[in-house]
Formats: sequence, C-alpha cells, structure tokens
Amino acid sequence: MEKKIAFLGLGSMGAPMAARLLAAGYPLTVWNRTAARAEQLAAAGATVAATPAEAVREADVVITMLADPAAVREVVGAFAPALQPGVTLIEASSIGPQGVAEVAAMLPEGVALVDSPVMGSVDRAASGELVLLVGGDSSAVQDVLAVLGTATHCGATGTGSALKVVLIGAVIAGVAVVGEAMALADSFGLPEELVTRAMAQGPLAGVAGRAFARGAYFPVRLAAKDVALATAAADLPLARVVHGRLTAFPEAADEDLGQLVKHLRAGRS
Ligand SMILES: NC(=O)c1ccc[n+]([C@@H]2O[C@H](COP(=O)([O-])OP(=O)(O)OC[C@H]3O[C@@H](n4cnc5c(N)ncnc54)[C@H](OP(=O)(O)O)[C@@H]3O)[C@@H](O)[C@H]2O)c1
Repeated sequence: MEKKIAFLGLGSMGAPMAARLLAAGYPLTVWNRTAARAEQLAAAGATVAATPAEAVREADVVITMLADPAAVREVVGAFAPALQPGVTLIEASSIGPQGVAEVAAMLPEGVALVDSPVMGSVDRAASGELVLLVGGDSSAVQDVLAVLGTATHCGATGTGSALKVVLIGAVIAGVAVVGEAMALADSFGLPEELVTRAMAQGPLAGVAGRAFARGAYFPVRLAAKDVALATAAADLPLARVVHGRLTAFPEAADEDLGQLVKHLRAGRS
C-alpha cells in the first residue's frame, strides 16, 4: 500500500520536493501558510489542506520544510495533536539539534521523528539530487527519502541537524572569504576572469563554485539564520564576524548567498 504523505512548507525548497513526491506516485496532501503557493501542486493532483492539522490527519508520513525554528515550532504545534500513532515525521528544515529536540518533545506517543535537513539548493531539490543528512531510524521512510536525494546516515535523532549546521556554516563562511578575496583582487586591479579561473584550480574551488553558482537560490536571510544557529551552539569568533557581514546588507536579504560576493566587492556596509 502506498504511503500517504503530508508536506507542510511549500517555499523555494519545499515546492520542488513535494512535486517530486507527487510525480513519484505518492498520495500527497500539502499545506502552506500562504495558500497561493499550493496552487501549482493542486493543479498537478495534490490535495490542499486548509490547516496543518487537516493536512496530517490521514498521513503515514509527514514532512516539514519550513524557514526556521520558530516556524517549525508553530506548525508542528498546530498539527501534533492530530498525528496518528505509527506516523513518521521527517523534519527537513534547517533548525539545528536544539530545534529538533524541541520538536521531539511536542510529538505524541508512538510518532517517530527523523531529522533530515538537506544540502543542495532549489536546482537539486527539483532534480532529486539533494544530500539528506539523516538523524534517527529512517528505515520506514527510506523509499520517500530516495525520491529526494541520497541519504547520509549520521546517527541518533538530531545528529543530521547538527552536521547540517557544521557544513552550512563552513560553506557560508567560505563564500564570504571568496567575496573578500575578490575585493582584494579588485584593489590590485586583477582581472576577474583570471582570479576566478585560478580559484577554480586550487583549494578554493568548492566554495568559489558555490559563490558563483547559477541555479541555486539560498537567500542571505536563511544563511544568517544558519550562522546564528552555529554561534548559539558554540563560541565561534569567525562565524560571528560572518554573521555581521551577512546582516550588513539588508537589501541582500532575499538575494542568493552568492550575491554576498557582489556586496563585499562593492565595499558598502
Ligand atoms: N534555499 C536553499 O537553497 C536551501 C538549501 C538547503 C536547506 N534550506 C533550508 O530549508 C528550509 C526552507 O528553505 P526555503 O529556501 O524553502 O525557504 P523559503 O522559500 O523562505 O520558504 C519558507 C517556508 O516556511 C514557511 N514559513 C515561514 N514562517 C512560517 C510561519 N511562521 N508559519 C508557517 N509557515 C512559515 C513559508 O511560508 P510562506 O510561503 O507563507 O511564507 C514557506 O513555506 C530552511 O530551513 C532553509 O535554511 C534551504
């Protein structure tokens, strides 16, 4: 019997992930705070629920893909009493291990929690090539996760979210470093093409690739949220500086992280 899936949070990442599950043949019910964002999925055959509780009522698997810990607390709080025993909640938002522990405490007896934050942006969400950082026993939902990408099993519940904060914090700091390196290169009058080509040939290749990526859309506001999760968890002086750079350009809040390079090169703050 096909698992019935409820998907809550149809933002830049959630919408293409939900679309993949629908295309894979799972009966899908969706909910989003801004209802208009569910229209495309409804046209493709998804059932649209009016409330989070209505969305999860008949689900075997519930997936949340929301902006931040506050959004997850609000939405899980609204649907938790309606969850049936035996349901698995896959928490895919990036909310850190503390956020996952708060979710776990809200769930009724008999509901399993798997945290599965993702690496990869909207392009990989659409193509099913996300890296899923899985915490907890995901054996009951492996088929569902496989539609979204490749799972890396990290350990107990919360470990996927811990690794996500570690990895994304370092990637974001790396993009900021590329931005400053480009600003320095500009001050020397070095041609951009020369500098980026040389970066691609050495140890900076990975983060430079992300900084200049096309097809990714990870807004600076969410990057600042992720770095704040890191600095709340440990004493990280470098990350605190990076957070300051991410929030120094309010006009960049909804731009992709890669645009930070442009702002750092322009030198305004
Ligand atoms: N974008 C990326 O490249 C990327 C990559 C990996 C991981 N992530 C992580 O994945 C998560 C989702 O990212 P995204 O890019 O899809 O974000 P997004 O486009 O900003 O979407 C955020 C979603 O959360 C909902 N939301 C926000 N506050 C809410 C609240 N108080 N109550 C109910 N719903 C609320 C939004 O609803 P509305 O539509 O009503 O605003 C929307 O559905 C984040 O944790 C992010 O860090 C993002």
